[in-house]
Amino acid sequence: MSKNTIKGLETLPEETVNVLIKNGYKNAKAIAISLAGDLAEDTGLSLDYAEQIIVKAVEKIAKPAMNAEELLDIELKRNKLTSGSTALDSLLGGGPWSGEITEIAGGFATGKTQLCFQFCVTAQLPTENGGLEGKVFYLDSEGTFSATRIGEMAVALDMDPRKVLRNIIVARALDSSHQIRIVQKINEIAQQENIKLVIVDSIASHFRSDYIGKDKIAERQLKIMQHASSLTNLAYVHDLVVVVSNQMVQKIDYVSGGSRHVPALGEAWSHRPQTRLELRKSPGQARMVRLTDSPRRPDGEEVFYITPSGIRDNPNR
Ligand code: GTP
Ligand code: MG
Repeated sequence: MSKNTIKGLETLPEETVNVLIKNGYKNAKAIAISLAGDLAEDTGLSLDYAEQIIVKAVEKIAKPAMNAEELLDIELKRNKLTSGSTALDSLLGGGPWSGEITEIAGGFATGKTQLCFQFCVTAQLPTENGGLEGKVFYLDSEGTFSATRIGEMAVALDMDPRKVLRNIIVARALDSSHQIRIVQKINEIAQQENIKLVIVDSIASHFRSDYIGKDKIAERQLKIMQHASSLTNLAYVHDLVVVVSNQMVQKIDYVSGGSRHVPALGEAWSHRPQTRLELRKSPGQARMVRLTDSPRRPDGEEVFYITPSGIRDNPNR
């Protein structure tokens, strides 16, 4: 029988390699972006040893320092995923970019899930049409995934609905710990399944219901920070488009005594998505979308429509 190896980690003892592979840590990328505690728990290796293995894996995959011109070339090659609305795409510089997290926050029925569905379909288009030519991993934490609706959106783009649905891997997260574990496991399959888009709809609901009360806030924020790091690394290491929906909550301003609506999960999360959008309802099927944070685009506002065909610029198409 041939010996198991992990590319880049050939110096590890054979029994360590075997236990890593057996537990799903099949390549240096998967190891590099795992948390030491999880690696130790999954494999039975000590925490110290898990940390050493992760350091080795990070050294292997980390890119050496680059000059900004090289970074420009990398940025130009990043994928941009069309939303179906040219107005929304132009707000984002072509759509959500690969390698980073794009957050879509909004109140109920503002179209967050509909946009996620639309991205599942457009991700499968050729790159020259704004797609990613790849599969989708959809983490559904609210039980609102609808294969039927995605099928309708596929038909509207002259795509075979069953073929489109076969390319979407759906995982239903039952609570926040389950959600964290699912995201950690995506990096195991991202490469082998040609995943190009990861959707989390929504990031917030389990965390908000699993950690109730002031005494749980610190624990919740720590878990959210770990979860955010997993998503950030996943996007960066595999150059994936990561789209995450978020709920809005009321925040009281203790100075003015007033209140305003802000995306949920507070400071622990708010700095993690590179790009942030907020949706608002307008009359009929119109939705306002505001870009509130981007490393490369000015803030701005546009309108799109939720039509029977999906997300569009025009209510009648
Ligand atoms: P929450 O998950 O409740 O926070 O809301 P959300 O922002 O995810 O809302 P969602 O994306 O589910 O949008 C719901 C709205 O989309 C509905 O009120 C409808 O206006 C519209 N919608 C949902 N399904 C369809 C459909 O099949 N056809 C059309 N034309 N519109 C739909
Ligand atoms: Mg929803």
